[in-house]
Amino acid sequence: MFTKFYLTTAIDYVNSRPHLGTAYEKITADVIARYKRLAGIKTRFLMGNDEHSQNVYRRARELGLEPLAYCDRMEQEFRSVWQALGISFDDFIRTTEPRHRTGVSWMIDRIAAAGDLYEGFYEGWYCVSCEAFKQEKDLVDGNCPIHPTIRPEWIRERNHFFRLSKYRDALLDHFERHPEFLEPEIRRNEIRRLLESGLEDISISRAGQAWGIPLPIDPSSVVYVWFDALINYASAVGLGDPGDSRFREWWPADLHVIGKDITRFHTVVWPAMLMSAGLELPRQVFGHGWVHLGGQKMSKSLGTSLDPLEAAGRFGADPLRLYLVKEIPYGQDGDFTWERYEERYNVDLANNLGNLVSRIAAMVDKYRRGRQPPPASSPDSLAAKAGEAVQDYRRAMDEYMLHEAAAAAFRLVDAANEFIAENEPWALARDPANAGRLDTVLFGVVELVRIAAILLLPIMPAAAGEILARVGETRPASDLRLDADAVWRADGERVVRKGPALWPRAE
Ligand code: ME8
Repeated sequence: MFTKFYLTTAIDYVNSRPHLGTAYEKITADVIARYKRLAGIKTRFLMGNDEHSQNVYRRARELGLEPLAYCDRMEQEFRSVWQALGISFDDFIRTTEPRHRTGVSWMIDRIAAAGDLYEGFYEGWYCVSCEAFKQEKDLVDGNCPIHPTIRPEWIRERNHFFRLSKYRDALLDHFERHPEFLEPEIRRNEIRRLLESGLEDISISRAGQAWGIPLPIDPSSVVYVWFDALINYASAVGLGDPGDSRFREWWPADLHVIGKDITRFHTVVWPAMLMSAGLELPRQVFGHGWVHLGGQKMSKSLGTSLDPLEAAGRFGADPLRLYLVKEIPYGQDGDFTWERYEERYNVDLANNLGNLVSRIAAMVDKYRRGRQPPPASSPDSLAAKAGEAVQDYRRAMDEYMLHEAAAAAFRLVDAANEFIAENEPWALARDPANAGRLDTVLFGVVELVRIAAILLLPIMPAAAGEILARVGETRPASDLRLDADAVWRADGERVVRKGPALWPRAE
């Protein structure tokens, strides 16, 4: 077990606003960050914006803005979306910041000193939306397979190249010795096949462009945007700044969360750059799947993208987070439709968890005036169920099976509902002779809900915090820890408070 956890997401191109797919990535990474903090691990969660792309430059020009002024504006837009979705990043980096430039210069100097840069001539297809060179064989009807509406451009220019091919064997060896380096397995197999088929050197500069970081060894060129962007993970913690001790403290990153389309950059190009510069490799990369919209690829140009704020506006950010985490097996592709979203909201939240929270508050209020004393003895079966669910949850979270972790938390909600149905507190309340049994039953369900809410804190931070407050938790959620708090506790009275329905049923 590591004592620190440095987690990053992809940094976003800012030529358009976040959509539900890019938001999915940030939400799932946020769940991981919050889980690590809940587990008591010192966590650093980095996000940011990738600004030196040609599309960003073009978009700024279309709007008649200086690129940097445009990026300033987009930073505010991105930050406000992430805030509305409850994303708890600790740091936000922009690739136009001086600290990033410092890291990029340092890295390129080191790679050059290792003899891994040389000048050459490049001719080939380039997809501006991928910001990547494409081989003829990869094109579909002459178009980029990922951006079928965008014609690749034919580029001929003098470039600087990185000796990527030199690192093929070292990379294969790394995959051999550290199979966990890339998850899920399906992505790992793709990359291993790619490495086995051979690697070509890559161009790391673009000639004659104004928007980008000037290449230290040839200021008439700018650094290729991917070479620039990947370094953000290290420059954000002070790479190349001798006065900054954070690099020693935080590097290597423990986890890069990225989409499946950019695994090659993160598990071939980036580790080779780090090897060349003599730096440690990140411990793990997780390539999540795509979120589709009604079965279609989300794409601005096709008009099939959904604003995450519109989705969050329907029932709130927490229900959206729950849907994306619980309904999409992490690592696989998933789909969003309004019908399915509404259906899951009604089932999981309105009818199940929300209703449970209202019922227990109403019962404790009615039978015990809101103060539930601990019973003389706890039902062992419930305590055991809670223990199992917490264990399942931890195992799932540790393996980034976020959907299974969410399901484990909801098993406690189901257990509480079943326990109420079996024990009928309203019937027990009719006969004072059953007072002891009634205490056992009510206390038991309150305790299950309390533990379920702790498990849900990373997924639905605001709602889970509210539930905890209603079942008598007085400490702020940030003080709670899995080990100490997600355990059955039959001590002390529980002050249970009624409140408005958390999730009214959607008709
Ligand atoms: O790729 N579903 O930026 P980006 C799930 N700047 N994830 C999706 C998605 C979807 N429909 N669409 C995009 C870039 N993503 C680069 C990254 S990192 C050094 C540089 C994911 O704005 C995508 O896979 O195009 C990527 O991980 C992230 O959103 C940002 O995409």
